Amino acid sequence: MTDSAQQTPYTTNNVGIPVESDEHSLTIGDTGPILLQDHYLIEKMAQFNRERVPERVVHAKGGGAYGTFRVTNDVSQYTKADLFQPGRSTEMLARFSTVAGEQGSPDTWRDPRGFALKFYTEHGNYDLVGNNTPVFFVRDPQKFQDFIRSQKRRPDNGLRDNDMQWDFWTLSPESAHMVTWLMGDRGVPRTWRNMNGYSSHTYLWVNGGGQRFWVKYHIKTDQGIEFFTQSEADRMAAEDADFHRRDLFDSIKGGNAPSWTMYVQVMPFDDAPDYRFNPFDLTKVWPHGDYPLIEVGRMTLDRNPDDFFVHIEQAAFEPSNLVPGIGPSPDKMLLGRLFSYPDTHRYRIGPNYTQLPPNRARSSVNSYAKDGPMRYEPANVARPYAPNSYGGPAADTGRFGDIAGWYAAGEMVREAYKLHREDDDWGQAGTMVRKVLDDAARDRLVSNVAGHVSNGVSKPVQERALQYWRNIDKELGDRIATKVNGG
Ligand code: NDP
Ligand code: HEM
Repeated sequence: MTDSAQQTPYTTNNVGIPVESDEHSLTIGDTGPILLQDHYLIEKMAQFNRERVPERVVHAKGGGAYGTFRVTNDVSQYTKADLFQPGRSTEMLARFSTVAGEQGSPDTWRDPRGFALKFYTEHGNYDLVGNNTPVFFVRDPQKFQDFIRSQKRRPDNGLRDNDMQWDFWTLSPESAHMVTWLMGDRGVPRTWRNMNGYSSHTYLWVNGGGQRFWVKYHIKTDQGIEFFTQSEADRMAAEDADFHRRDLFDSIKGGNAPSWTMYVQVMPFDDAPDYRFNPFDLTKVWPHGDYPLIEVGRMTLDRNPDDFFVHIEQAAFEPSNLVPGIGPSPDKMLLGRLFSYPDTHRYRIGPNYTQLPPNRARSSVNSYAKDGPMRYEPANVARPYAPNSYGGPAADTGRFGDIAGWYAAGEMVREAYKLHREDDDWGQAGTMVRKVLDDAARDRLVSNVAGHVSNGVSKPVQERALQYWRNIDKELGDRIATKVNGG
């Protein structure tokens, strides 16, 4: 608020009324009682008491920036999604995060990193809520809550506990591929700018002719992959807990806008039933040799938020934000996530969270939603029900197409995916150890795992952990065992 007569803005309360003092409460004499009519003081105290929203139940610590996604290749034969059409540029928001740490926890703790993207497309917001890993620890949403609790703090002493982590992992062998990833170099990226993002899940793409394809996204850093060793990460955790948040902000502020190139692997729809791995199992990748990467476009992050809370804390990403041309797949984890995110947003930031600046669509919103706490955008329909004969919006399936889905029929069951020819829990983890890592990376993996399982892990759980690593790779498991046993 500025007065035309002066340059310095004058302080007001929250509704613009000039305040009498920035420093002194209203009292009867200098030693008298504080008066109830000091509304400004009361407003300050009350506002302060409500400054926090609950932190995200996972991925609480993070940072992000706005940017632009530009299409660089023609993938219109695979999807009609507006944002992936040739020549398109789409404004976007990215948020990076650790998973298990709370607000204020060090950025360089070993953990997967969240890689959440929101694209403000012509047909509504498209959210691609991935991680910096192409796989995950579990393959059924029933186990997600248990997994996260094994990574968070114990109820009795409030401490994180390696014993819980290895107990859960060794009883959940489907975690092996992701744990191998996590314990390797990429478990602590040097900066967020130096890591890749992956959809991890398989999604469905539908082209203008109604043809369907299964896709996985790979969003590769143009800055190159860089990582911290465990000792570098530990040192940085002590020196600068906000190192990754600071690095992104300072890079963008300094004109050094990071970018990533987006690729997809595309599987013809009918390949899925007979593919050698279950293509919807989140603990597996599709080997590049089977489905090579196809370039789609480039995203550049070049705008810092002007208010961290407004744009980053209140950002609400949701895998259920899928635009015409993109659908979910039978990946059970993805299907579980479609419910979870909007539900947590309604709790964390309120039912009208879609009206907040980072979450508001930049395309027209013709929704029949109305009212509720903190709603401030007027409804743009005069009669809030459908169908109506007063010109209210009507679903346009002719223009946007029908359901992006697949055929399903059968008895209701609670059972694991049907195994494909080469499905098992250890194989792809072993491939990574033997074929992807070089000797130095394998040495660091041995040392990272040995350090972790030697720190507060009970003997029986430790024994299971050593067997787990032998199942991934016998030689690697033996080396870890030797190191754990003092060799
Ligand atoms: P490729 O040799 O074609 O791919 C191996 C990939 O591994 C690289 O492209 C790179 O992915 C990634 N990679 C390299 N170094 C590391 C590291 N230290 N930690 C984690 N990942 C690394 O082989 P395949 O496609 O046949 O896959 C073989 C194994 O590679 C898989 O079992 C899986 O463990 C791993 N992998 C596979 C990916 C895939 O989507 N096919 C993706 C990432 C890993 P990038 O280029 O994405 O950085
Ligand atoms: C955040 C649930 C699996 C990536 C969250 C949040 C919840 C959640 C409740 C907090 C959201 C918020 O408060 O804003 C789940 C469930 C899962 C699951 C139930 C499995 C069934 C995954 C997987 C990935 C992932 C497999 C990656 C492929 C993320 C990311 C965030 C997040 C990146 C942070 C988003 C942000 O930056 O705001 N998840 N999650 N999650 N999740 Fe998941």
